Amino acid sequence: MKLDTAIYVIETDQRIPQHVAIIMDGNGRWASERAMPRHAGHRAGVKSVRAVVERAAEQGVAHLTLFAFSSENWSRPRDEVSSLMKLFLEALQREVTKLHRNNVRLRFIGAREQLQAGLVKKIAEAELKTAANDGLQLFIAVAYGGRWDVVNATKNIVARVQERDLMPEEIDETVLANALQLGGVPDPDLLIRTGGEQRISNFLLWNIAYAELFFSDELWPDFGTAEFDAALHHFSGRQRRYGHTGDQVGAA
Ligand code: FPP
Repeated sequence: MKLDTAIYVIETDQRIPQHVAIIMDGNGRWASERAMPRHAGHRAGVKSVRAVVERAAEQGVAHLTLFAFSSENWSRPRDEVSSLMKLFLEALQREVTKLHRNNVRLRFIGAREQLQAGLVKKIAEAELKTAANDGLQLFIAVAYGGRWDVVNATKNIVARVQERDLMPEEIDETVLANALQLGGVPDPDLLIRTGGEQRISNFLLWNIAYAELFFSDELWPDFGTAEFDAALHHFSGRQRRYGHTGDQVGAA
């Protein structure tokens, strides 16, 4: 959906989602359209990350989760994978001080043991530096897959059962949810995907059970403050029913 973002002025009484998750798609096409290499698209994508993080904080979004690199992205050409890893490292080095100054807490989700030691170290340092910040809670998903997350959580639960820390009959949705990478974080209220495709691509499968979905035709490097505001505006107009009828929700 291509929206005329200019008309979406944020009203003061607008309902702001507590948690926004974003699938940042379209960097490669953005670069191809300009006869540039794919990594130039990823570089341009960092600017959109910066704009959206700032805007989310300004709008009072409490949690923002960005899908930066999926479990499946490892099968991309080797030079694209290594340029992405280099970009994450550079962005971390450049941005952490500013994020910290703005009271943002930064955390990574995903199979970090698959990442290079240098990047893992920088991630740990950034997480430690920002650990006490109580502003925007920013999660970057790297080497992350929704199915991997559920399998990993299951392994952790089985280990607890084996250690007799948990009885099998105590396993319920809360136990599983807490064992996921975003354990203890409220589920996303709004999931945005840019780049025109309308699919989930193995992102946060468990957590988005009741998320409102917003698909934008903008390629990620073209997605900025105005487009983010448009997504929030769209969310504000949705009625969330969680399996109830519209009348039940309206009467509540
Ligand atoms: C998907 O577009 C995008 C990615 C796989 C990489 C996302 C990375 C960034 C936005 C860069 C920086 C991120 C952080 C957190 C610093 P695509 O390559 O699949 O695009 P295409 O569908 O047009 O080929």
